[in-house]
Amino acid sequence: MSVGLVPTMGALHRGHLSLVARAMGECDRVAVSIFVNPRQFAPGEDFERYPRSPESDLEALAGAGVHAVYMPAVEAMYPAGLSTAVHVTGPVGEGFEADLRPGHFHGVALVVTKLLVAARPDRAYFGQKDAQQCAVVERLARDLDTGVQIVVCPTVRDGDGLALSSRNQYLSAEDRRRALAIPAGLAAAATRFEAGERGSAALIEAVTEKLRAADATIDYVAIVDPGTFMEVETASPGCQILVAARIGTTRLIDNLRLGSDAAPSAGAFHTT
Ligand code: PAJ
Repeated sequence: MSVGLVPTMGALHRGHLSLVARAMGECDRVAVSIFVNPRQFAPGEDFERYPRSPESDLEALAGAGVHAVYMPAVEAMYPAGLSTAVHVTGPVGEGFEADLRPGHFHGVALVVTKLLVAARPDRAYFGQKDAQQCAVVERLARDLDTGVQIVVCPTVRDGDGLALSSRNQYLSAEDRRRALAIPAGLAAAATRFEAGERGSAALIEAVTEKLRAADATIDYVAIVDPGTFMEVETASPGCQILVAARIGTTRLIDNLRLGSDAAPSAGAFHTT
């Protein structure tokens, strides 16, 4: 009997539910965890105001037919005296998001390890939207001999191309419109890649141009090898183009696998 685990922080949207549906299709039993993990929020981040909607989450998961939902209290996850850390080192665990969100991946790595131990799944499901998180989790699952297969699922987008995120709730109508510069920038880079451009600098410029036009604050735009998260000067199919930008006070991340993901564009995605 195969077991699938879908770790989440709740406030479930169609992105989360696509992971649940994939797990339901591939595993005999599916468990979903809902835990807003304090350890992965850097000081001053949005832990307190992070959206929480347990009733509607449980309803959605019951509708999807999942077999178990794990919603531990913080004290159950992190009992007094907890002294063990899980750190993924090197560019995978220390670059990009880790630079900008100190301690973030230490919190993610610890909680995911604990969830894998608690559920002992055969497969665990993660979203491509959080590309570096996928790389961190793949690394720790392999390095710690968990035997768990990490399944990375495609990014689910709104009809206008914006990647679904619980944090989209923070955007005003005007900022949401400005946020479309992120998928538009990725689409512009994908178009240039398809037209034969391989220079990372030129592909990155295609993204930053759109972000600047929308007056977004750029944290980083980079092209990396997906396994190592090392930046590449020359892009090849499978490389990931990463974006992190702030629209007003809301920080959003997105990415595209060059040469394989469809370029996000308005009209190419449909809300169900
Ligand atoms: P959370 O942000 O709730 O996301 C849970 C899972 O849903 C992650 O694997 C994330 O990549 C995926 N996801 C989010 N938006 C998505 C989208 N638009 N399309 C596809 N998948 C999407 O990521 C976390 O929680 C936490 O860090 C967690 C892994 C649960 C550890 O605390």
